[in-house]
Amino acid sequence: MSQYPILINDFRSAPKRDGADKVWLGKAQLPGGQAPVDLMIFERDGEMRTISAYCPHQGFELCDEPLDSDGVIWCPLHALAIPVFGKRNRSYLVNEIDGKYYIVED
Ligand code: FES
Repeated sequence: MSQYPILINDFRSAPKRDGADKVWLGKAQLPGGQAPVDLMIFERDGEMRTISAYCPHQGFELCDEPLDSDGVIWCPLHALAIPVFGKRNRSYLVNEIDGKYYIVED
């Protein structure tokens, strides 16, 4: 199992959303990626997951979009659903070790 360190760069910016207990912003290289990318990190019921801060379709910035109570972000540009939590999620698991955060490739 590989782990990718996340540089947390903003603990306070993203407001609490319906579908998450905490939301914050960071930067890390995603598994299979070539360079660090901006991320949104969500915590819900003790589970932490992350996605790119930009829509995988055409790159619309998602930082101000709400996570709904089903754990899904809907990109407003073309209505793509990006599931963060749940069985069919398109996100990465995040692990905290001694106050540092890592993407876990599972
Ligand atoms: S840019 Fe997000 S759905 Fe098209």
